[in-house]
Amino acid sequence: MPSPSLPQRLRRVAGAQLDNLAVRRLRTLAERLATAQPVPAELVPAVVDAFGAVAADGVRLPAQAEPAVLRAFEGLWDRDFEARPPTPAVRDTIVRQFHRLYYHSYAQTWKDTVYRGVTIWKCPLDLWLYQEMLHDLRPDLIVETGTAFGGSAYYLANLCDTLDTGRIITIDVEPQPNRPEHPRISYVTASSTDPAVVEQVRSAAGDGTVLVILDSDHSKGHVLDELRAYADIVSVGSYVVVEDTNVNGHPAYPEFGPGPMEAVDAFLAEDDRFVIDEGREKFFMTFNPRGYLKKIKA
Ligand SMILES: C[S@@+](CC[C@H](N)C(=O)[O-])C[C@H]1O[C@@H](n2cnc3c(N)ncnc32)[C@H](O)[C@@H]1O
Repeated sequence: MPSPSLPQRLRRVAGAQLDNLAVRRLRTLAERLATAQPVPAELVPAVVDAFGAVAADGVRLPAQAEPAVLRAFEGLWDRDFEARPPTPAVRDTIVRQFHRLYYHSYAQTWKDTVYRGVTIWKCPLDLWLYQEMLHDLRPDLIVETGTAFGGSAYYLANLCDTLDTGRIITIDVEPQPNRPEHPRISYVTASSTDPAVVEQVRSAAGDGTVLVILDSDHSKGHVLDELRAYADIVSVGSYVVVEDTNVNGHPAYPEFGPGPMEAVDAFLAEDDRFVIDEGREKFFMTFNPRGYLKKIKA
């Protein structure tokens, strides 16, 4: 086996020193927090920083440090959340770390989420938001780019059944066997940005209420092309939902590269008909942060 290179050896030595520093700091903070009621305000950012450093990608916690880390983290808030809500810094740290845990445990979480027997690659908190949105909007047409197994199209079709209105056009480059059959669902096999497909969707939309969900190729370029192609088709008061804006470190999958979040930023800089509806982030964790774009004018 080749011996480790100099940068690798340095990383090992420096990394261990940094871990030790962070752990020592957490131990001190944990001791102070254990006796302090309520938590002194100046300790909160320090503990959040230390916790973030220890929990950062690539840093392994020595086993003996875990109790100190956990005690410091637990000490960040009073147990009575209603009377004493956590500070924004604490809340955001909790949400980010839970989001990363959930996202990166994909084999047991979002890749193993099933709707009535069909795989659906979504977070249940977002699925509940879709239920609320559909109830409010009663869309005539839902356009979904990225079908995969068909679980999300099937879920949306069943919600439409309860409203007794709406149909779904779902577009994917890859055909798949055994997608669920449903009278409200039309499957289209093509790229979502194929101009002929966009025209087909436009004529199906007519003057009805149209909701668009972008969940296909998540590269920045493709999502931006989709936003530009479908923006006119979304009806005023409805939404284009940009799925998976959480990748590229927002806060998950930091190695992804420019993706949906970067496409949203570029799109909003050039199109003032849409605004981010932050109200759709009320459940704290969403796979689509800043991705619920509401059309406010024609
Ligand atoms: C994240 S999955 C869709 C998940 C599905 N909406 C769900 O919630 O279960 C992404 C899908 O997009 C498809 N895809 C990739 N590039 C595409 C493109 N240019 N146009 C349409 N679909 C594309 C892939 O084949 C894949 O099935």
